[in-house]
Amino acid sequence: MDKLNQTILRSLLQRPLVVEVQDSIDSTNSELKRRYGAGETGDRLLVAETQTGGRGRLGRSFYSPAGSGLYFSLGLTGITDFADAVLLTTVASTAVVEAIERLTPHRPAIKWVNDILENGRKLGGILTEAVTAPDGTLSAVIIGIGLNVTPSAFPPELADIAGWLDLSPVTREQLTAAIVDRIYGHIETLPQRGYLPSYRAHSLALGKTVRVLTDPPFTATAVAIDDNGGLVIEHNATRQTLSTGEISIRIE
Ligand code: BTN
Repeated sequence: MDKLNQTILRSLLQRPLVVEVQDSIDSTNSELKRRYGAGETGDRLLVAETQTGGRGRLGRSFYSPAGSGLYFSLGLTGITDFADAVLLTTVASTAVVEAIERLTPHRPAIKWVNDILENGRKLGGILTEAVTAPDGTLSAVIIGIGLNVTPSAFPPELADIAGWLDLSPVTREQLTAAIVDRIYGHIETLPQRGYLPSYRAHSLALGKTVRVLTDPPFTATAVAIDDNGGLVIEHNATRQTLSTGEISIRIE
């Protein structure tokens, strides 16, 4: 796989973003958090060939070997409302599946809230984090995206669940630019939730029996995705909405 090229990536993007490609970093999300925490401003895109401490939701690690994935974080400084920030995980998931569909023959789906799957295997995921200023306002929102793009030797715990995306002849720069452009496009229609019909159409959970992995876990039916990206479930004849926070589900 060709090394990521910063100049090409910048030229493919429709917005004038600060773009940076690094060979190796602990986590592109952590690095942008540090940068914004130290007072950097403006939207930026940070891509790494490998991450030594890639992170996923719920404190999990994200396996990020060199030469077999796409790992990047988009730092956005124009989102000032926390209610909008929580929508960005579903916005980004939608952008990822749409960009993949536009550029490749793959037809991925979204497992609420942030997993990208195809044929039951996880191709990647999204981790959105906020950076707050000392006065409590939002300084930046960081959208981290990781996708497996070659069949690397996954560690045993991932061997049965991880999948990968055959990109060729599409480059990682093209896919990154397509995802980033779509994220910005969906943010423009955020008040009308322009992206939600597509998110719902790509949802694996809707209409299915799901196992809600709380303590203790329970089984429910996923009946809707509400306007805030929450998963509405029905359990013992009562409805409840799982917010996009700290809950995972398994589709039965
Ligand atoms: C998940 O599967 O729960 C989310 C995985 C998110 C991984 C991406 S890779 C780029 C960015 N940097 C990180 O440390 N995590 C995200």
